[in-house]
Amino acid sequence: MKGLIVFDSYFGNTKLVAEAIGEQIRADGHEAVVVSARDGRPWELTGDFLFVGSPTRFGKPSHRIRKFIKKLEVQLWSSKPMAAFDTYMAGTPNDPIASYFIHDKLKEKGFNVRSPPLMCLVTASEGPLAADALDNAKRYTHEFLLTLGK
Ligand SMILES: Cc1cc2nc3c(=O)[nH]c(=O)nc-3n(C[C@H](O)[C@H](O)[C@H](O)COP(=O)(O)O)c2cc1C
Repeated sequence: MKGLIVFDSYFGNTKLVAEAIGEQIRADGHEAVVVSARDGRPWELTGDFLFVGSPTRFGKPSHRIRKFIKKLEVQLWSSKPMAAFDTYMAGTPNDPIASYFIHDKLKEKGFNVRSPPLMCLVTASEGPLAADALDNAKRYTHEFLLTLGK
């Protein structure tokens, strides 16, 4: 199967998470295409499953990721498995973060999105990621892949 991973990133941390997801997809025997939301028209790409990720900015994903979600075609992606991910800085437990925003928007459009989303902590605004973040991302991805076809 082919996984599409679309991400945005300002300082490179969310990009590292996207690449770790791609690595795990390949390690589990699938094809992975990792694409920046800044390149071309990523909503026109296809795959058998989709990961969408963004840094948290003021409690939300970047405008590019919000645009990507808006433009995702319901017919093209209907019933295909999806997952949302983000990077965020520790706040209070109720602070809104990008991955839940993405998750909820995908759900609103009727997509088959995994709950809960993948949340990756950065230790400062420009990073680095928390020590276990990439391992967590790979574990989450592996578990996601186990559910494919079920
Ligand atoms: C302008 C700005 C706003 C931010 N707002 C939030 C926020 O609301 N909540 C949060 O957890 N982190 C916030 N952060 C921290 C970002 O989540 C962090 O910079 C990002 O995860 C780094 O990912 P990147 O390297 O892929 O850009 C903010 C950072 C910046 C620069």
